[in-house]
Amino acid sequence: MSKRVAIVTGSSRGIGRAIAEQLAADGYSVTVNYNSSPDAAMQVVAGIENAGGEAIAVQANVSSEQGRSQLIQDTLAKWNRLDVLVNNAGITSPGRLDILEATSENWDLVLGTNLKGPFFLTQDAANQMLSQIEEGTIPAGKIINLSSLSSYASSPNRADYCIAKAGLAMMTQLFADRLGNEHIQVFEVCPGIIATDMTGPVKEKYDLQIAEGLTPIKRWGQPEDVAKAVSAICADYFPFSTGQRINVDGGFHLRRL
Ligand SMILES: NC(=O)c1ccc[n+]([C@@H]2O[C@H](COP(=O)([O-])OP(=O)(O)OC[C@H]3O[C@@H](n4cnc5c(N)ncnc54)[C@H](OP(=O)(O)O)[C@@H]3O)[C@@H](O)[C@H]2O)c1
Repeated sequence: MSKRVAIVTGSSRGIGRAIAEQLAADGYSVTVNYNSSPDAAMQVVAGIENAGGEAIAVQANVSSEQGRSQLIQDTLAKWNRLDVLVNNAGITSPGRLDILEATSENWDLVLGTNLKGPFFLTQDAANQMLSQIEEGTIPAGKIINLSSLSSYASSPNRADYCIAKAGLAMMTQLFADRLGNEHIQVFEVCPGIIATDMTGPVKEKYDLQIAEGLTPIKRWGQPEDVAKAVSAICADYFPFSTGQRINVDGGFHLRRL
């Protein structure tokens, strides 16, 4: 059987990049999706190829229907199969405005990228996987959604982001339910505070909070920590699980006294 194929959205940088590199090292052919960083995406592809793996870079804005369709079409044109979709692309709340000042423009941007995009890309990918499972060209499919501790921890200056991530958690359960008996597993991977460009502007705040014991495991998460969780799912170590949230957060989610 030919190599399995994964699409990782937003894999030019940060967590997505680490996931793309890990899956390529695991033997997947990988579509490296980017929106506005072509050079970074090409570097990821070159790194994967230099290590003996296979990858292509595809420019696509996941919030647009045309972008989502391009992503799937280019992947199929190259490898003619799709086994895994990782919905990783995401943006933080522009300006981190207080909930009483939040704007509908930001709402549309954040919800469009972080929730509507993944929802309809999952729909497209699931339909593609279902047709391939039926014709026997792939044995099963996996869809992995990158949520956030913001799906349950309140930050009133990032309401759009929190609501989008809470929606992504329910989206995972909905697709897991619908696809459970169709050989497609759906998982939520829930990162804590991870060192990437996204958290760069608030690094000092989190440095202090982590040092003061915000998380039982007292360190920043790294993109590779998240990539390993995705790798374990894709390696079929959870054959009788679906709809599961897997926290990669140093224990942030624990309620403590
Ligand atoms: N960092 C954290 O602490 C943390 C914690 C919890 C959850 N998360 C989630 O983990 C995911 C990755 O976060 P990160 O920290 O790695 O972010 P990041 O470093 O800011 O990277 C974001 C990635 O998403 C891509 N992207 C943004 N908008 C896109 C769009 N419309 N279409 C396609 N790609 C798009 C970017 O591509 P271009 O550069 O090409 O535009 C980039 O590759 C996000 O969903 C985020 O919400 C992060």
